[in-house]
Amino acid sequence: MLEAVPLTVEDSSIVTVRMIPAVLAPPPGKPRLDNVPELQAFAAQVAVEGAWGPDVAGVVAAFFDQLAVNWNAEHSVGRFEPVSDALCRGGVEAGGRCLEVGSGTGQITPLLAAHFGKVVSVDLSAAMLEQAAGLQGSRLRCDAAQMPFADAVFDAAVLVDTLCFAGELARVLAHDGVVIWVNLLGQDGPLYVSTADIARVLPGEWDGVESSSGWGTWAVLHRSPATSAGQSARGGGEAPRA
Ligand SMILES: C[S@@+](CC[C@H](N)C(=O)[O-])C[C@H]1O[C@@H](n2cnc3c(N)ncnc32)[C@H](O)[C@@H]1O
Repeated sequence: MLEAVPLTVEDSSIVTVRMIPAVLAPPPGKPRLDNVPELQAFAAQVAVEGAWGPDVAGVVAAFFDQLAVNWNAEHSVGRFEPVSDALCRGGVEAGGRCLEVGSGTGQITPLLAAHFGKVVSVDLSAAMLEQAAGLQGSRLRCDAAQMPFADAVFDAAVLVDTLCFAGELARVLAHDGVVIWVNLLGQDGPLYVSTADIARVLPGEWDGVESSSGWGTWAVLHRSPATSAGQSARGGGEAPRA
């Protein structure tokens, strides 16, 4: 495993993150998962400190590979409301090109395909992607820390319960692009990182709105176009550091 490599995160100011009230209260029966504090600490290290590299990527891929066969059976409840709410009340323009990061077995992809003009889904785990075989959309196995896309080719990036690589996200997003950050179990989610931390590591200036829906939380962050030029190579969670 790699040591955490502190990144130089320049002071990218987020203009505002407005909290709006939830319209759907959490239903009873929210799952309580094991090892949440440890997993959240890992997710924060990756997002904020850039603690990532080929060895860590291999461990994460193997972890999800072994969960893949049972993933849909074991993760089928409460998965859509926060995403729909974010798209609807977060002011996410319909149409355009969407990058789905950490798409897993593709459970969320149809929702995205109904909103955006084109969806490209990426995941690190071959076995998770195999479970999505036959579903609509383009799927690609790659590490979201270093994606095989040109700069500024996506209008939106959607991250649902996955790891955030802010520098790389900012690079592939259009200058006025939008990041949709969703944690399906909110602050109890294993990969939960606060919106404030995500906003802090995204290079450039962003303003946004956040809320919750059912068990989950979401944030929609819009980049101010004037701040993105020349800044896409800095920020947290950049390409792997060997
Ligand atoms: C908890 S699952 C969520 C899957 C899907 N978003 C959903 O909500 O159903 C997290 C997914 O993120 C993927 N992932 C983790 N690190 C990644 C990385 N560096 N690049 C691409 N995908 C990654 C995992 O392989 C896994 O499929």
